[in-house]
Parts: sequence; C-alpha cells; structure tokens
Amino acid sequence: MGREDSADESALSGEPQLIAHRGYDGENPENTIPAVRAAASDSRTDAIEIDVRATRDGEIIVFHDDDLSRLTDAPMSICDTPIWELSYETLSGYTIGDSDASIPTLTAVLAAIPASITVNIELKHPGCEGVRPGLVDTETRAAAIDRWNPFVRQVFDIATTTEHDILASSFYEGALAAARATAPTIPLAPLVGDSVETALIIADRYDAAAIHPSIDLLFTESLCLSSAGKSLREAAQTADWQLNVWTITTQTAAVSLQKLGVDGIISETPEIVPLTW
Ligand code: G3P
Ligand code: MG
Repeated sequence: MGREDSADESALSGEPQLIAHRGYDGENPENTIPAVRAAASDSRTDAIEIDVRATRDGEIIVFHDDDLSRLTDAPMSICDTPIWELSYETLSGYTIGDSDASIPTLTAVLAAIPASITVNIELKHPGCEGVRPGLVDTETRAAAIDRWNPFVRQVFDIATTTEHDILASSFYEGALAAARATAPTIPLAPLVGDSVETALIIADRYDAAAIHPSIDLLFTESLCLSSAGKSLREAAQTADWQLNVWTITTQTAAVSLQKLGVDGIISETPEIVPLTW
C-alpha cells in the first residue's frame, strides 16, 4: 500500500458528526428509551441511530434483531419466533439484556429525544417474509417496493409528526426505493457491508444524501484506506455524498476517520471522541 493510501497521510479536516449507534450500545441497553435519553444528554452527540421494524399487529418498534434470542430472556418456545410473527403486547413483556428497559415503540423513542438531535432511522425489516438485502433486479423491484411501502409510510408518518431532522438508511434497495417514493425530501443513505458497487448504484438511483459504509470495508486491519474504501471515497466526493461510517469502537479508528475527512462516525460509545475535538 502506497503512502497516498494511508488514512494518516490524508489532509486534516473538520470534526465528524458523532452518531450514537443504537443509543451507544457499548454502554446502554441498545435501542431503548434509557439509551436514547443517555445519548441525547451527552454534549458530544449530534445524532442517534436506531433500528426499526414492524410487529405482527403493525406496531413500529425500535429493535435490532430478527428474534428475541440474543437480547432478551424469552423462553425457548418464543425466542426463535420472528419478530414479525409476534404482537407488540407480547414483545413489550420482555426487557433488554440485564436492564429493566422494555422494547420501545418508535413513537416513544422519538418522544424521548430532543428535537435538536438528528435521528438516523435504519429501516430494518418491514414485517413480512421475502425481503432480501442489497439490489433488487428490475423485474422484481415493484414487488420489493410493495413489500416495504406500508411499513415505510408508517415510519415516516410517525417521524414527520416530530420536529427531528431524519436520515433514513437501509441495507435494502426496496426500503430506500419505498422511502424515496413516499417522502421525496427525506435524506437517504444506503448501508454498505461489502459491495461498494451496490452502494453506488443505490445511492445514485435514489438520490442519496449519504453512504454508510462499514469501517471494515473502508479500512484495512492496520487502518489504511482499502482499495474499496478508496473507490468509495472518490465516488462520494464526486457525487457529494456524505460518508458516515459504522461501527466505531476505538479512539484510534475515530482519529483515522477524522483525518480521512468522513462526515460522521456511528459509534458504540462517545468515549471514542478525543479530548482535542
Ligand atoms: O446503521 C449502522 C449500523 O447500525 C448498521 O448495522 O447491524 O448495527 O444495524 P447494524
Ligand atoms: Mg443499525
């Protein structure tokens, strides 16, 4: 790798925005009311990222996983059941990790966050079978949009009754396509785990404001810019897409990203912010 590829060799730039991943899941019970309250009360926080999905009875909840097994002590008979097959009444009976915080609704989470904090809503699952991350081909795009439409409409109906600035992100083209059709002015961002090409196609197709890559895609293990990261950064600069990178766990990584000039750091803790920022 040449000198020009090292993040440390990049020109110094301004400080990136700090986005609290699941309400700083490194120190709070993820995606809960106490987590977003704690994140919002930290002066370093610019935005909060939350994951949203639908229950069987059409409630929009803030919850990351497809089932209850990792995050709750739900019994075997229920913990493998997909969230979209459970009612909100059932789901609200469980608490997250060791905390006494229950699975919240999107409405309750937004009400707990001051309007001055931007909310990055990650569209996780529309509550029906048959969704696939990444691109959808032309023949099945209309069907993919139909699957996401009711859920996305409901999420935006809830979000737009608040004063928050919203940024909607997703790993799914269908979600972003439905979002763009439903709310032409809400900023969108494709999430990128592995394919830069896919992210660029989606960002271009739906007039994205930002791209959200994984730090593992952007950097090598020694925190040098990878070839994929280089392509992504060049494309983002050309198209004027912001780059918000997830999920940051160390100050070293945060400093490397700041030197690279990224716009946002989606972090599990605010402690990754150096004192000098
Ligand atoms: O939005 C960034 C990040 O949250 C994407 O991955 O699995 O943590 O939702 P995940
Ligand atoms: Mg997320």
